[in-house]
Amino acid sequence: MPKPAQFDVNALVEPDRVHRSCYTDEDIFRRELEHIFHKTWIYMGHESQIEQPGDYVMAQIGLQPMLLVRGADGEIHVLYNVCPHRGTMLCNRHTGNTGKTFMCSYHGWQFHLDGKIHGIPSEKGYDNTRFYEHESAKGMQPAARVANYRGFFFASLAAEGPDLLTFLGDAKQAFDDMCDRAPEGEVEIVPNCFRIIQKSNWKIFLENQLDALHPSVTHASTGHAAAEVEQEMKAETGEDPPMSYHFLSAFTTPLSKWEQFETVGHPNGHCSLQGYMGLRPKDPDTLEYEAVMREHYGAERAEEILSVNLHHVLVYPCLSVQPALQQLRAVRPLSADRTLTEIWHFRLKGAPEPIYRRALDYYYLVNSPSTMVNADDLHNFWRCHQGLSTASGEWVSFHRNAGQDPETDGTMTSVTGLSEMPMRNMYRAWSKLMAEG
Ligand code: FES
Ligand SMILES: [Fe+2]
Repeated sequence: MPKPAQFDVNALVEPDRVHRSCYTDEDIFRRELEHIFHKTWIYMGHESQIEQPGDYVMAQIGLQPMLLVRGADGEIHVLYNVCPHRGTMLCNRHTGNTGKTFMCSYHGWQFHLDGKIHGIPSEKGYDNTRFYEHESAKGMQPAARVANYRGFFFASLAAEGPDLLTFLGDAKQAFDDMCDRAPEGEVEIVPNCFRIIQKSNWKIFLENQLDALHPSVTHASTGHAAAEVEQEMKAETGEDPPMSYHFLSAFTTPLSKWEQFETVGHPNGHCSLQGYMGLRPKDPDTLEYEAVMREHYGAERAEEILSVNLHHVLVYPCLSVQPALQQLRAVRPLSADRTLTEIWHFRLKGAPEPIYRRALDYYYLVNSPSTMVNADDLHNFWRCHQGLSTASGEWVSFHRNAGQDPETDGTMTSVTGLSEMPMRNMYRAWSKLMAEG
């Protein structure tokens, strides 16, 4: 893989500004694949997607096509979706069940669910050849490492490096908060997702997730329209409108309030944002759910779980998770100017159905490609990438509150919710990884 000659990270990233080529340059993008996506832990999928032996889902690590598959013994493997004979891609569908083996559609080689060869047509032809010393004889190539946390599976193409839990550090709260909110302590994925190809660099998406300044500007029209309807409904019925209206009207939150929310920059580029929406109204659905939680966990532990106030966790470089609303978006870079996002949501096992409907409402109203919220974000991403591809200015500014956010043991907290600390934190990890090797 070609690398830019004499890669000098210090010429591109300073503590408070970043050169625009980090978003637009294909050589830098190729280095990102090798140094970031092939070195860290990348999200593959959730165990509930592959419950039976032979169940598989496709997922990418960088541009590498991988399969997450449940083996005959129940163990989960991550394999390249590539036939080791002549390179044919093995599975064509995003998800499915391959039966007891994978079979290549070209010459019919078959593989066990752990990737090892099961059978080769005309195998005698390999006698007295060097085939059995060749890598093809080992079968489908596995990812170097596979691990999961609470059912969320990750893989790494690097044999060396921190284990998954060490890598996640405090970002594991994304999965703890989501799973703990289930009375049974587990979540289950809702099959299939929305997939969007964004015409912009992958980092623009991640930077937007904890950009607390943009909602009251970008989403102002959506927020005000929803707030108006909310008020009319309340005037007519005398009751609080369903929570789904609040998901949109919350975009009217003024900057003075955003300033008060805390963001945290964790080691390895992970970031989190404190919750800004109330998710515990006193409506019958919420009260019923909270009662079920108390039954399962006891009053004290249930209260502890329900009091966690976390809106968003970024698991760098591949995930944006909103645990309290059971949302997860996976980021799959395609090129410097193209990014695939997969938008998933989950069901809390053991929770009453209306709580699932709440997650579904948020999924449709805020995160889906057709919502007014996401459409405005996508338009910004595209315009941002277009602007960064011009000759107007060399640097992107991340100066807001630079040098002011308190830091302890590598974890930064924001001095104000509007600080651009999360972006600077991601670039800290980016610079470290890109400079290595
Ligand atoms: S390429 Fe797969 S069997 Fe030949
Ligand atoms: Fe947004």
